[in-house]
Amino acid sequence: MTTDPNPHATNTVSVLGLGPMGTALAQALLSAGADTTVWNRTASKAQPLEQAGATVAPDAAAAVAASDLVITCLRDHASTRELLDELPAEALAERTVVVFASSTPSEARATQAWADDKDIRLLVGAIMVPTPLIGSPEGLILYSGREDLLEAHRPTLEKLAPRSPFVGADPGMASVLDTAMLEVFFTGMTAFLHAAAVVTANGLSAADFVPWANSMLDILPETFRGLAEDTDRGEYPGTEDNLAMELSALRHMVHASHDAGVDSRLPALLRDVAQDAVDRGHGADGWSRVVEVLRQPR
Ligand SMILES: NC(=O)c1ccc[n+]([C@@H]2O[C@H](COP(=O)([O-])OP(=O)(O)OC[C@H]3O[C@@H](n4cnc5c(N)ncnc54)[C@H](OP(=O)(O)O)[C@@H]3O)[C@@H](O)[C@H]2O)c1
Repeated sequence: MTTDPNPHATNTVSVLGLGPMGTALAQALLSAGADTTVWNRTASKAQPLEQAGATVAPDAAAAVAASDLVITCLRDHASTRELLDELPAEALAERTVVVFASSTPSEARATQAWADDKDIRLLVGAIMVPTPLIGSPEGLILYSGREDLLEAHRPTLEKLAPRSPFVGADPGMASVLDTAMLEVFFTGMTAFLHAAAVVTANGLSAADFVPWANSMLDILPETFRGLAEDTDRGEYPGTEDNLAMELSALRHMVHASHDAGVDSRLPALLRDVAQDAVDRGHGADGWSRVVEVLRQPR
């Protein structure tokens, strides 16, 4: 494996893959004054960037040849590896490749192993914000694997996201956190939508419900801290709440959903997990006990 990041990194950067995210990345680089080359399989998507000052490369090899830093933002890791594999063997020498396609942790590890095997300097990143926040102070991209490459190109990469933390030497770690953070996000959004369906079936508007939903959000940060403490300690005291009581509340949630004619799979899932914990003899424990139920699926 090559360990020496390019010590002479310049301000040249190429972006391969100009879907909505690749386009946002290239636009942010152009706005920050970087000498930016772009390439996309479907050439027409490069035209707006050309008007914004980017150099459009005729093919992927030319795009890679143009810059020290090569950013890929294709649909997934498999198509990224395929594209890079088609380049001449020496094309990526003296280049740093940053792969931004979303992936599973194991895919990210496979991409890093593939690169190490070919002596390609490659860094994996997980973009944690939507396109409008790329290049803004709220931008957040997680990196894992090759910290040396992140630090060598940090000035350029921070043009995309000022918050660009290195989260671990395991190249899968950015994806671990990406999928875990998205789980919190999608579960929260879906819980809101389920609750909104029940509330609107009872005559309120979804907008009426927002302040009430937000009052639950207010207590989540402290709740997460407590759940994390219990999880890391492996102790699940039911001093403030207990699963037997919570099971009863969750049954009410399922009934309210049925009564409103709304799909009950989400509250039923929560009820079933709580029931499982109670069935295993943990009715007097707190909700944090659920982590053990999830760790030991039947
Ligand atoms: N959009 C977001 O808000 C967001 C947020 C976080 C992460 N991401 C991640 O960023 C990545 C890109 O997303 P996106 O929003 O830009 O949309 P996208 O629709 O996933 O973009 C796909 C891009 O990949 C190219 N592509 C796909 N297969 C290819 C292949 N075999 N060879 C060459 N190019 C190929 C497409 O080229 P063509 O134009 O020729 O089809 C297009 O440029 C995804 O992994 C996505 O999960 C996106």
